[in-house]
Amino acid sequence: MPTTFSHPEPNRRSFLAAGSAASLAAGTMVHSSVAAAAESHDLRLAVIGCGGRGSGAINNSLSINDGVKLVAAADLKMDACTRMVAAMKKAFPDKVAVEEGSLYSGLDAYERVLADPSVDLVLLTTSPGFRPLMLKAAVEAGKHVFAEKPVCVDAAGYRTCLATDELARKNGTAIVTGTQYRRQVNYVAAIEQIRQGAIGDIVNISARYCGGGIWYRARQAGMSDAEYQLTNWMHFIWLSGDQIVEQAVHNIDTFNWVMGTNPISAYGSGGRFTRPDDSEMWDNVSVDYDYPDGRTVSFMCRQIPGTKADVNNLVYGTEGICQIGASNAGSRIFDRKGKKVWEMEGKISDAYRQEHKDLVDSIRAGKPIVELKQTADSSMVAILGRTAAYTGQRVTWDFMTKESQLDLFPKELDWKGTLESSGFAVPGRTKLI
Ligand SMILES: NC(=O)c1ccc[n+]([C@@H]2O[C@H](COP(=O)([O-])OP(=O)(O)OC[C@H]3O[C@@H](n4cnc5c(N)ncnc54)[C@H](O)[C@@H]3O)[C@@H](O)[C@H]2O)c1
Repeated sequence: MPTTFSHPEPNRRSFLAAGSAASLAAGTMVHSSVAAAAESHDLRLAVIGCGGRGSGAINNSLSINDGVKLVAAADLKMDACTRMVAAMKKAFPDKVAVEEGSLYSGLDAYERVLADPSVDLVLLTTSPGFRPLMLKAAVEAGKHVFAEKPVCVDAAGYRTCLATDELARKNGTAIVTGTQYRRQVNYVAAIEQIRQGAIGDIVNISARYCGGGIWYRARQAGMSDAEYQLTNWMHFIWLSGDQIVEQAVHNIDTFNWVMGTNPISAYGSGGRFTRPDDSEMWDNVSVDYDYPDGRTVSFMCRQIPGTKADVNNLVYGTEGICQIGASNAGSRIFDRKGKKVWEMEGKISDAYRQEHKDLVDSIRAGKPIVELKQTADSSMVAILGRTAAYTGQRVTWDFMTKESQLDLFPKELDWKGTLESSGFAVPGRTKLI
């Protein structure tokens, strides 16, 4: 975790926001919007990370929930905040109440949002490397949280998430994560079928997260190392975790859910052929996971332009096979003779909204959902697989969760600062730490 942060632009906190903070520090004033929120029972939302998913997540929440209002936003760059707010104002004019001074920019902008007592719920949608520290800070500030996946990219972040999960349970604040398949009807129903014995005992799961290329944001003239890495975050492991953690965690979360427990160990392989020279990412990773009772998962992920996409989960049982297809592909069960005995459709767009409804409903009911540990475990299963492949070693769950010192976050982070890339992993040379 960093010892210092310095931010790119002067913070544009207005007179109003600065006045509120000062009064609050002196303990003299309750922010007027808290009283307003209490009267109207509006839940006041803020987005931290106003890119593609930040915009998508707030759209999902405003579209499915009544009595919610977007009141603040933070991003590294002010224009990302203003763009997102303008788009939401156009789509949901009655659900956007962002006062002047409630948009913040810079590396420490999230702290300004968390210090705003009128914010009830924060949506954490930055690049993943920041998630553990922002989750911890949000829960310590007493906010309810929606946190995108993955929730950590290394062992240090995993431990922060476990402690934060416990704190949220103690404090009564909600944490729902962006693992939308947990709320997709054909996933839930298929896993219920498996639990009821529809395919007998689980023997193996085969899971894939294979797709084409991914964006690359080339370095612009005048960018410092830090600005470049933060902008082109997918390609730096401390920020993204690599494809297996950043994206494939969706399927990894699914097979961990089916198994109902965490793996014992992982053995993997992979490499890179097509990534830009300065990318730290691999192109593909294959991992065999061992689970308790002799059950196994055969997993692969790939991200190479021009290759055939396949994002799928096949659960092999002693009496049948259950296919759980990602996105809108639906679920089906076949008996051992290949006859289809059950199927169900499901729409991912419904699942994206449902997670925000469940979150808000749980807060209103006074029974806040806290699902951080579940998603931290799935993120760690991905980290475990990546570590096995990067190092070329068999790696155990116990080692990664209890002994590993892997902490990828820079010790100092300055928008204008130098930041050396760790380069890409080479099995046999990359150390298991
Ligand atoms: N659940 C899903 O299906 C799904 C889909 C897409 C993305 N995601 C997740 O959402 C997250 C964001 O992805 P994206 O596609 O929106 O990326 P993006 O690059 O479009 O947006 C990220 C935004 O966060 C901002 N940011 C980064 N660090 C910040 C910091 N320290 N403080 C404030 N703002 C910061 C960036 O400036 C940027 O605007 C990732 O974790 C990704 O895995 C989830």
